[in-house]
Amino acid sequence: MGSKVKSLSLLILPLAFSLCFSSLSSKPADPTPAPWPHQFHSIIFMNNNGSLQVVDLWYDWTNGRNFNIIQNQLGKLLYDLEWDNGTSYIYTLDSNKECRVLHFPVGVLRPNWLEGATYLGQQEVDGFLCNVWQKVDFIWYYEDVITKRPVYWVFYTGMTAHVMTFEVGAVLEDPKWQAPAYCFKESEKKENTVFKSVVSHGLSREGLMTGSFNVSMLY
Ligand SMILES: *[C@@H]1O[C@H](CO)[C@@H](O)[C@H](O)[C@H]1NC(C)=O
Ligand SMILES: *[C@@H]1O[C@H](CO)[C@@H](O)[C@H](O)[C@H]1NC(C)=O
Ligand SMILES: *[C@@H]1O[C@H](CO)[C@@H](O)[C@H](O)[C@H]1NC(C)=O
Repeated sequence: MGSKVKSLSLLILPLAFSLCFSSLSSKPADPTPAPWPHQFHSIIFMNNNGSLQVVDLWYDWTNGRNFNIIQNQLGKLLYDLEWDNGTSYIYTLDSNKECRVLHFPVGVLRPNWLEGATYLGQQEVDGFLCNVWQKVDFIWYYEDVITKRPVYWVFYTGMTAHVMTFEVGAVLEDPKWQAPAYCFKESEKKENTVFKSVVSHGLSREGLMTGSFNVSMLY
C-alpha cells in the first residue's frame, strides 16, 4: 500500500512541478503542424534548381496508397503510384511503356509525419502568413496560420514546393490506381532516367522525409 502511494507521488510530483512552471511562464506553447487529412487532392508546383514540375498529388491514407502524377515542364508525364506495403510503380503511359517497380522499407507517409518538428516562428511566404517548422534538417514546412493548410515547403537540397490547391476529402477513383500491365513483366528493366526525375520530387516516401533514407543511394 505504502509503496503504491510512494510511486504515485513520484509520478505526480514532477507533473505538478511542470504544470506549475508552465502556468507561470507567459509564453504560450509552440503551435504544432496540423496532421494531414487522411484523404486529399493537391496540385503542387515544384522547382528543383530551375527544373519545373507540376505534381498532381492524391494522398489516400485510408486506402494505404499515394499517387504523384508528375508533369515535367515540356517533358515526361510520370506516374508514381505508391502502396503502403512499400511497393512503388513508376511509369509512363506513352508508347515507350516505361515502368520501374521499387520496394521501399517504409510505406505511405503517415498523416502525422510532421510530429516532432521544431517550430521556427512565423513568416510570410507566397503572400500567406505561415507558421514554420523544420524537421530533421530535411524539410522546412510552411502552414497558413489561419486556415492551417500547407502553403509551401523546401527541402535541404533547395527544392521548393508551392501548394496550389488543397481539396480535403477528394479521392481518385479505384480504376485509376491500376499500374499498367507492363509493370508486371519481370523482364522489363528500364534505364534510370525516368526514375531519377521521379525521386527528385522528394515528398513521397516517409523515409525521404525522416532522412532515414538517402535518395542518392538509389541513383
Ligand atoms: C543548378 O543549375 C545551374 C544552372 O543550370 C547549375 O550550374 C548548377 O550546378 C545547379 N545546381 C545544382 C545543385 O544542381
Ligand atoms: C503491394 O500492393 C500492391 C497493390 O495491391 C501489389 O501490386 C504489390 O505486389 C504488393 N507488394 C508486395 C511486396 O506485396
Ligand atoms: C547521401 O549519399 C551521398 C552519396 O553516398 C552522400 O554524398 C550524401 O552526403 C548523402 N546525403 C545525406 C543527406 O546523407
